Amino acid sequence: MLAELFLDAARSCQGHSPLTHALLVAAAGDLARGGVTARVMAGAECDRQGTVPGLRFAGALHRLVLEGRAPALAAHYPTAGGEPDLRTLWDDVLPVLHEHADELRAAIASTVVQTNEPGRSAPLFGGLQTATHLAAVAAGRRTRFPVRLLEVGASGGLNLRPHRIAYLVDGVKLGDPGSAFALDPRWTGRPPADLDHNLRLVRRAGCDLDPVDVTTEDGRLHLQSFVWADQVHRFERLRAALDLAQLDPVPVRRAAGPEWLAEQLARPERDVLTVVWHSVVWQYTSPADRAMGRAVLADAAGRATPMAPLALLVYEPRRTHGADPYQFQLLLKLWPAGVSLRLGSGAGHGIPFTWDPRPWT
Ligand SMILES: C[S@@+](CC[C@H](N)C(=O)[O-])C[C@H]1O[C@@H](n2cnc3c(N)ncnc32)[C@H](O)[C@@H]1O
Repeated sequence: MLAELFLDAARSCQGHSPLTHALLVAAAGDLARGGVTARVMAGAECDRQGTVPGLRFAGALHRLVLEGRAPALAAHYPTAGGEPDLRTLWDDVLPVLHEHADELRAAIASTVVQTNEPGRSAPLFGGLQTATHLAAVAAGRRTRFPVRLLEVGASGGLNLRPHRIAYLVDGVKLGDPGSAFALDPRWTGRPPADLDHNLRLVRRAGCDLDPVDVTTEDGRLHLQSFVWADQVHRFERLRAALDLAQLDPVPVRRAAGPEWLAEQLARPERDVLTVVWHSVVWQYTSPADRAMGRAVLADAAGRATPMAPLALLVYEPRRTHGADPYQFQLLLKLWPAGVSLRLGSGAGHGIPFTWDPRPWT
């Protein structure tokens, strides 16, 4: 039942976003009573848990706030300069639900929850430095290869500019020191490579089942609306990444990963390191897609040569036997060098991150 799904979503943000938690708990109560939330969610009663109706509801409201169309509610939203008052929040939500019920219902029915976390560019940057270093060593080259970066599940493509960000490490700006987009990656340990190397990304491409066009205001608002509204640091990071994307657009093709990858990898490219990258995508793919993705990659790996090397770099949650049931790990495979490393682990959004390279078996 929908109210239960709202409570599930509320539990997922407990401890991370008091505002979204309070909103979803109150909305679940209103749904159960048959209040205005039931009218807003009409048609979504049978939606699957995986479509997270509660977060679609919260995102649609957040979007109205960001558009400046719900000023009284905006007073609770830090992303709009407000300060949450959880005791009066629902009183200020209700008039917005009544006034915009039809529009909200249409928006909630037509959207999927869509995120793109640019904090993951920090482990990607360190991973690319490591991969280019190891590929050069394996090929006996004094200079590193330039990179062709292929991202599967790229969303809005915000992680396709890891070389255009300034990373503040040990008081020094790495990457692109002059960039207006700066990240403090909060690293423990360091990647096993010289980080002063000037990464060159000569080609970049991405695909997604549901790409977001961040060159449009609609696309930018779409991604911003799904950031929990009291996580201002994430919101600002996203805004900085969106601004950078305006200056350096990279289109993301609407396509399923394995088919797209097969096309991209059909011919090995000499004198570049081809890197296939994905972050927080694996859990959303079907068993058939996974099997096909593995087969496409194995095929391309078989054709890789020292002068046309191939890397797989992924940042994904993996089950562990430790205290945490799963951990976000950065993994690197390199062909034909035969490198297979678990480079480290970090927070879901990529920051902070601990470098701790060891064999990945
Ligand atoms: C949680 S988002 C992560 C987006 C981005 N990689 C990041 O780290 O911010 C997962 C993305 O994977 C995409 N996706 C899921 N299955 C896919 C598939 N089979 N092929 C391509 N994209 C897929 C979704 O549409 C969604 O944009």
